[in-house]
Amino acid sequence: MFGNIKNCNNTEDFRRLAKSKLPSPIFHYIDGGADDEITMKRNTESYENCDLIPNVLRGVEDVDISTTVMGQNIDMPLFCSPTAAQRLFHYQGERAVSKAAEKFGTMFGISSLGTVGLEEIGSNIKTPKMFQLYYHKDRGLTDSMLERCHAANFDVLALTVDTIVTGNRERDLRTGFTMPMRLALESILSFATHPSWAINYFIREKFDLPILKDHIPEANFAISLSDYFSKMLDQSMNWKDAEELRKKWGKDFCLKGIMSVEDAKRAVDIGATGIILSNHGGRQLDGSRSPFDQLSEIVDAVGDKIDIICEGGITRGTHVLKALSLGAKACSGGRMYLYALAAGGQKGVEKALSNMKNEMIRDMKLMGCTKLSDLSRKNIRFR
Ligand SMILES: Cc1cc2nc3c(=O)[nH]c(=O)nc-3n(C[C@H](O)[C@H](O)[C@H](O)COP(=O)(O)O)c2cc1C
Repeated sequence: MFGNIKNCNNTEDFRRLAKSKLPSPIFHYIDGGADDEITMKRNTESYENCDLIPNVLRGVEDVDISTTVMGQNIDMPLFCSPTAAQRLFHYQGERAVSKAAEKFGTMFGISSLGTVGLEEIGSNIKTPKMFQLYYHKDRGLTDSMLERCHAANFDVLALTVDTIVTGNRERDLRTGFTMPMRLALESILSFATHPSWAINYFIREKFDLPILKDHIPEANFAISLSDYFSKMLDQSMNWKDAEELRKKWGKDFCLKGIMSVEDAKRAVDIGATGIILSNHGGRQLDGSRSPFDQLSEIVDAVGDKIDIICEGGITRGTHVLKALSLGAKACSGGRMYLYALAAGGQKGVEKALSNMKNEMIRDMKLMGCTKLSDLSRKNIRFR
């Protein structure tokens, strides 16, 4: 029933299809969160504690959902968050996600742990591009990443600030997930039961981490995520470092993983153009608040000074409309396109983005809104 991306009408449909296609350690790496996964679940549930109040009879035949966020013009207020290792999920990896994002006129974020080179993405993708930076102990590596991003015409630098150590992802501990996949007994069994994934994984371009590999010999070998974060990243990173990075970069800059009002204000002080309100999809500090629950406080404090992106748990167009009603400039998501990537490569991601875009346009019409600025706190109530 769910064997075809054409039948995937929502994120949950793609999730089921991805589950059937991926070896279980890989599926659980995408699907899982930290500790008891309470924050991960709350991220989506928080959208269910409030309701939209539509207006009618407003002439809604033409709806414009384009917006400008961090200086980038995008055709819809939802973009693809940076996520690691996409060629593990489907052999087309970042090539598929970036092309699908380009087709929908939205921004694509590539991770420091990306599996396609920055230069290739830079020369092939004309729509806005974000590079997500992890702050390495090796300053030469950080500098070289910035230079390569400049040369490849990346538009926005996102410094991830919520991953100073990796979260306790117990599903990965249980499945023995590593990057790339290690040939342990369980993974061989998983490969055997998912032959089409396994054939693609072994006959296509070898897995690697091209953004890191020239600097870190370990990047060529199987690494666990906790090893990467604890050995290679700089836990002394502080506000001064973030400010210096912003100056060095010189273009639009955001902090990914801001949650408190205090930090949001400091992001304004160091000259960031955006903050991604995020708990890393519930993969880091379990028990932390959901971005949507925290959104109004942040908007009240800094909404007129910086672009606020709300991220985490978004699976529906109405989630985006709710976040925008509270004052977010745009939203972004990870799993909403990753399941689709695993399910069907570029065509899968295109279908997922098309589902979300159609939902947003339909929901705008049902709300009696023709442009995003029509959305406001007047049209939302908490239960
Ligand atoms: C499989 C996976 C890998 C991720 N890798 C990264 C990463 O390399 N860097 C980063 O800043 N965030 C990473 N994230 C977090 C996403 O950028 C984003 O914050 C999160 O997916 C949002 O939650 P959602 O998946 O519920 O939309 C990853 C998320 C997932 C699911």
